[in-house]
Amino acid sequence: MITIIGSGKVGGDAALFSALKQLDDQILLLDVVEGLPQGEAMDISHALAELGTDVEVRGSNDYADMKGSDIVVVVAGSGRKPGMTRMDLLKINSSIVKSVIGEVKRHAPDSMLIPVTNPLDPMAYVAYKVSGFDRNRVFGMGGMLDMSRFKQFIHEATGHSRDSIRALVIGEHGENMLPLTRFSSVSGVPLHDILQKEELGRLITDTRQVAAKVIELKGATVHAPGNAVSSIIESVVRDKKQVLPVSTPLEGEYGHSGITMGVPAVIGRGGVEKIIELDLNDEERSALAKSAESVKNAIASIEA
Ligand code: LAC
Repeated sequence: MITIIGSGKVGGDAALFSALKQLDDQILLLDVVEGLPQGEAMDISHALAELGTDVEVRGSNDYADMKGSDIVVVVAGSGRKPGMTRMDLLKINSSIVKSVIGEVKRHAPDSMLIPVTNPLDPMAYVAYKVSGFDRNRVFGMGGMLDMSRFKQFIHEATGHSRDSIRALVIGEHGENMLPLTRFSSVSGVPLHDILQKEELGRLITDTRQVAAKVIELKGATVHAPGNAVSSIIESVVRDKKQVLPVSTPLEGEYGHSGITMGVPAVIGRGGVEKIIELDLNDEERSALAKSAESVKNAIASIEA
């Protein structure tokens, strides 16, 4: 069973995408707001009925209902308002995530944990520490979403099919995220052989800034995060062993420890099965260090 804690826009969309991809025959939506998860589950079920898709989607306000979940997605918490940074949500969301993870530990102690709540990387760290789960079972969704935006910008800049585009974004899911142009390509042709240096720089800036733009225009980001969650789940439940950017606890990888940050990892039935250490150049390494510093400071401030 897949449980999604937080039945707002992103949680509902993650449930819908997971159901449409038929990632499990049981999906549970949980929320503290009476009626919200139940209504969301009914709405999704009506769409599934027309499609003839026999995935059972339920809604509940009782954490005990997540018993036996294989995967638990944590989206609970406040979302950004226009003009806010993800880090602005640090204090309010860390207390919400702490209490939610306590429920996961109690009712679904053998599950895989996919934090989504922002600021993602510190929240994934809270999930790791409070759950006490092995680190391979904690992988936050942040870079996956940034990667989808980076791919869109590559598609727009090159005109090539989205299906031919391979891209990577590592580091924090925040202002210092690092779209890796050197490790991105179109049908194996390195991006650096297709686009000029100035264009590559613009892709990086656009990827970092586009979420705030969407929030300014429509009030929230919904479909891209919802889909990104379902793509990570798919790699787990179908044991696809895709290399995906996820926010997971580091123990020396890329020279960093004691933080949770976006790195490329092999995602399969065992969760994070292997962290891939790319041969970064000095510029990339120092950019990643900026991400690490930002996450480290955020973690320190919530542990204080
Ligand atoms: C975004 C939020 C989910 O990047 O962090 O859309």
